[in-house]
Amino acid sequence: MRMDDQSDLLAETTTVQVGSSEESSQRRAAPRRARKQPQATPILHFLSTQAFASPFDVNMAVDAGFKVVVPHTNAALEHTTGLVQDAIFSRPPEYGCRTGLFIGGKDAILALDMLAAAQAALVPPFQLSALADPGGSFTTAAAMVALVEDVYRKHTGRTLKGATVAVFGSTGVVGFASSIIAAQCGAKVMMASHIGVKALEPFIQAGCERFSVDLEPVAAARDADKEHLVETADIVLCAAAAGVRVLTREQLAKAPQLAAVADVNAVPPSGIEGVELFDRGRVLDGTNIAAIGPLAIGDIKYKTQSALFRSMLSSRETLMLDFTHAFAKARELVSGRRVSN
Ligand SMILES: NC(=O)c1ccc[n+]([C@@H]2O[C@H](COP(=O)([O-])OP(=O)(O)OC[C@H]3O[C@@H](n4cnc5c(N)ncnc54)[C@H](OP(=O)(O)O)[C@@H]3O)[C@@H](O)[C@H]2O)c1
Repeated sequence: MRMDDQSDLLAETTTVQVGSSEESSQRRAAPRRARKQPQATPILHFLSTQAFASPFDVNMAVDAGFKVVVPHTNAALEHTTGLVQDAIFSRPPEYGCRTGLFIGGKDAILALDMLAAAQAALVPPFQLSALADPGGSFTTAAAMVALVEDVYRKHTGRTLKGATVAVFGSTGVVGFASSIIAAQCGAKVMMASHIGVKALEPFIQAGCERFSVDLEPVAAARDADKEHLVETADIVLCAAAAGVRVLTREQLAKAPQLAAVADVNAVPPSGIEGVELFDRGRVLDGTNIAAIGPLAIGDIKYKTQSALFRSMLSSRETLMLDFTHAFAKARELVSGRRVSN
């Protein structure tokens, strides 16, 4: 939120008496300006399915303009309706979206179910706006795919439509959301797991049933599996756990078709050897592979999440925001277009 918006939130219009007594009496004779209604304090209810509320997300919400952030930890799907209705009925409808809901945790599908439950719980004209971003995954995945789309197009002249994309760490929240966004862009997505394809089944099923996308499960436990996978990929997205090296330089060197790689892991060692923190299209030494690093992704992720929070505060209508909205916002940021709130 911009500073002028913030002061507007807090300010009540007051008549200030300055100048001569004549001026003052003219001022008194003039019709009084209508007193501006004080605006409601922006409050965010943070539903976390974990035992804690992410400090990162609390900070992001406050820096974007929420004045009060209330963590509701160990929140479950069945708590959502009650909490939403408890929040909306306590405030007059004209306070509108000054009440926000944030859904965190570490489960993308559960977060989407809670978002749907929150929307169903609204009783017009009482309203609030909500953002689901479990573990920061929706905004991180949106930023990663938006950057990859941009770098890949500049590097090859091609779009994601028809590109073969291998996603490592795809049973994680970031990997799953990245897989769905890439598939929705028309990519052929191979979801890879280091513990075998069985672990991928619920994610493949969710992709098909909820998002109408086909995702291919691929085992990536052994080096031979990973080499085969990168050999057939145009793009690799690495969303594995922090500090885990997934792909080596030698493996990349055996992948002549590979044109772009992105790595979200900022904790050494990098997920993909040779990728540096701020890479945004740098070609890796001795290859034709353009790289995107974790802090280039983090920059767009941060701005995306902030813009989504600000859009909740500025909207007069209920907003229910998930990774599709995050991706639209990340694309605006990557392209350098002015970001709408
Ligand atoms: N740059 C940013 O702005 C930003 C923002 C948020 C998060 N992150 C980073 O994004 C990454 C993913 O986050 P997340 O919350 O989804 O992570 P996570 O839940 O900790 O792990 C993601 C996946 O990594 C794979 N994995 C776990 N241990 C592994 C191992 N020993 N070897 C190989 N793969 C392993 C697993 O997937 P499979 O079973 O499918 O292999 C797991 O589901 C993390 O590195 C996190 O730090 C970056």
